[in-house]
Amino acid sequence: MKKFYITTAIVYANAFPHAGHAYEIVTTDIMARYKKMRGFDVYFSTGSDEHSINVFTKALEQGKDPKVYCDEMAKIYKDLWKKYDIAYDDFIQTTEERHKKTVADIFKRCFDSGDIYKGTYEGWYCRSCEAFYNETELVDGCCPTHKMKPDIVKEENYFLKLTKYSEKLLKHIQDNPSFIEPASRRNNAIAMINEGLRDISVSRNGQKWGIPLSFDPEHKVYVWFDALINYVSAAGYADNAEKFKKYWPCDMHVIGKDIVKFHCIIWPIMLMSAGIELPKKVYGHGFLLNKGEKMSKTRGNVVDPEKTVDTFGCDAVRHYFAARVVNGDDGEFNEESVKTAFNVDLANDLGNLINRSLNMVEKYCAAAVPAYKKEIETPRMKEIREAIEALEKEYTEKMDSFDLSLAMEKVWKRISIANKFIDEAAPWKLAKEGKTAEVDNVMFLLLEIIRLTSICVSPVMPSTAVKIWKKLGVNYAEGYDFEKEMKFGVYPQGTKVEKGDPLFPRIEEKKS
Ligand code: MSP
Repeated sequence: MKKFYITTAIVYANAFPHAGHAYEIVTTDIMARYKKMRGFDVYFSTGSDEHSINVFTKALEQGKDPKVYCDEMAKIYKDLWKKYDIAYDDFIQTTEERHKKTVADIFKRCFDSGDIYKGTYEGWYCRSCEAFYNETELVDGCCPTHKMKPDIVKEENYFLKLTKYSEKLLKHIQDNPSFIEPASRRNNAIAMINEGLRDISVSRNGQKWGIPLSFDPEHKVYVWFDALINYVSAAGYADNAEKFKKYWPCDMHVIGKDIVKFHCIIWPIMLMSAGIELPKKVYGHGFLLNKGEKMSKTRGNVVDPEKTVDTFGCDAVRHYFAARVVNGDDGEFNEESVKTAFNVDLANDLGNLINRSLNMVEKYCAAAVPAYKKEIETPRMKEIREAIEALEKEYTEKMDSFDLSLAMEKVWKRISIANKFIDEAAPWKLAKEGKTAEVDNVMFLLLEIIRLTSICVSPVMPSTAVKIWKKLGVNYAEGYDFEKEMKFGVYPQGTKVEKGDPLFPRIEEKKS
């Protein structure tokens, strides 16, 4: 069986969940579920980044043992991801033993390959992003992300020779265009290399919190060097050699655009130095904005991912992230937009199609899947059948390239064709005229669109798909062969369907 290992970035344990975190993990979960549906043996890991000095400080402020604090924060994330129906296989915490062992080992491997040396770091350090900055990277003397003046730091550190690998990395990026996606992030990484890399400090001296270097325990591993290694720890590097052999290299790291440098420059170089295979792809998504503005506490425009999921339901928010945010670009996220998408895409388009169609199948076809007769196919019916037959290819192409909104566009195009077709074909008239074979054909086309839609949306809206399958009388919830079921005409004649309750009552109706 083909395997697929996919990861999200691991969240800083000192901050509460942000809408951006929810977006990242939902889109990753959609990809993981899609790959499972395509028959891959999927491993999906996420987790929390706990050796940041900010985590340590926050724990002490609250009078808690740092590990206890980290576990409490991890639970907050895990509980929220349950609400979002995230089917991860692993939630790795960087304070776990399996990870500490991995970090110590990889650090040593880089040291043994002669790529880590002792030197003195003197320069800028932003405490919030825990990153070292060159003068040229600062904006008006401030950290480009946190807009605060970084500290000047002078300390004896261990350095990793990024410079030694810049040509090799550049060649790898150019020879493997799918290594960094989308293209904007690839260009961003190439520009960073062309501007000239500098060796980076990979340890902090005298810090209390963090993983000590095995050969110099006064020094702790720099938190980013530590955090990036989570991806190999989760794959079983230190505790399950068989699992590691099976899942590494990672097939896809999903991250935000702000951490491209760490994942596309530093991480591959760490792996090259340690002699470990590089991941196959790093996908850098865009940022969620609220009405065009960055969400921030000071602006008071932060959208709470827990409140949103409680208000609209998990599948509605998941659908929003997939269909209404163009993956790779920055996207909008606010309650009004989610509500509009709910009413338009789910209540009107998908919900009405299912309601109207199943209602008519109950009325005109004794609630059972009718036969489709090609002999009486009209040119319009043929067009629709061909549109259904073309869906599998169009959908999989877009899903494979992680263009979730485009994949959903392909599906919704069929939904809209179906809704129009109901009015064009007017089955109620055909029924009155006694044209039962024609009615059957119309109903079969509508049912096929609904059935294929339910398969295509299942990675995006898992519980909605199960509800549709129940209405359609198919047992896909127990597993199915995607290629087989995506074919037109495989819906067994005579299968009993049931309209049942509407899936998506309009939000206004819900609240009244
Ligand atoms: N701990 C590091 C990642 C280490 S991975 C080895 C980190 N954590 S974070 O909590 O700040 O961010 C986690 C992920 O959420 C990152 O991929 C980040 O880009 C993403 N997002 C944070 N805010 C975001 C938005 N507003 N929009 C979309 N995603 C953003 O960085």
